[in-house]
Amino acid sequence: MMHFHILTLFPDMVLRGLRESIIGRAESAGHICIEALNIRDYTLDKHKKVDDYPYGGGAGMLMQAQPVYDAYLEVERRILERREKEGSADKRTPRVVYVTPQGAVFRQEMAKEFAGEEDLILLCGHYEGIDERVLETIVTDYVSIGDYVLTGGELPAMVMVDAIARMVPGVLTNQLSGETESFSDNLLEYPQYTRPENWNDRTVPAILLSGDHAKVDDWRLQMAKQRTQERRPDLYALYEKTNPVTEKKRK
Ligand code: ADE
Repeated sequence: MMHFHILTLFPDMVLRGLRESIIGRAESAGHICIEALNIRDYTLDKHKKVDDYPYGGGAGMLMQAQPVYDAYLEVERRILERREKEGSADKRTPRVVYVTPQGAVFRQEMAKEFAGEEDLILLCGHYEGIDERVLETIVTDYVSIGDYVLTGGELPAMVMVDAIARMVPGVLTNQLSGETESFSDNLLEYPQYTRPENWNDRTVPAILLSGDHAKVDDWRLQMAKQRTQERRPDLYALYEKTNPVTEKKRK
């Protein structure tokens, strides 16, 4: 069972989004557990304030170190308490991911790697960011979900939990689909078709109806390569690097 701990000012947004569909069912089935702590609950300010002006001036407000750190300490305390109770052998200190445009761009390999953790803490910023000192104190990984700026870290955290959770064993009923789909080999997925055979005068490629599995596999690989070359030449370059043609096909 993998445990996700999300530190956020909007816990309801995160939990409502993640407790639907496949990820929601995975939690009900006990493959994963998702908790969200409201950083505002940990502020010592009597008006529940969690932000302030940046030193040196500039636009916007920053989240203060104190409430973020105290929320983190509470998560850490809960993790250690649970591991103790379960007699967990995991002695690793949990990784703390800060979702930020200033991080490494999230990729499928990272999702697979994070899925091997027993606990993962995700820190969501808001306003113009978070006081650097608390980041230096607790963050182990800086991750961006892409080169664009969002208003907060909640959507990126939800994206990451979804991508990581589906790599946790048992979450996908058809575990093969987690391995054979887009990106597993730096290739996009091949096109797929379902009934009816003829829709709006458009027919399914005949080879898929042939029953010849070797031919179907070969066709799918060719389509995946063609699609990747057209739509994601950057990925196709990676595919070619990891799959060098070492031998010409024999006739
Ligand atoms: N916060 C704001 N924009 C973001 C992005 N692109 N990735 C991760 N966190 C963010």
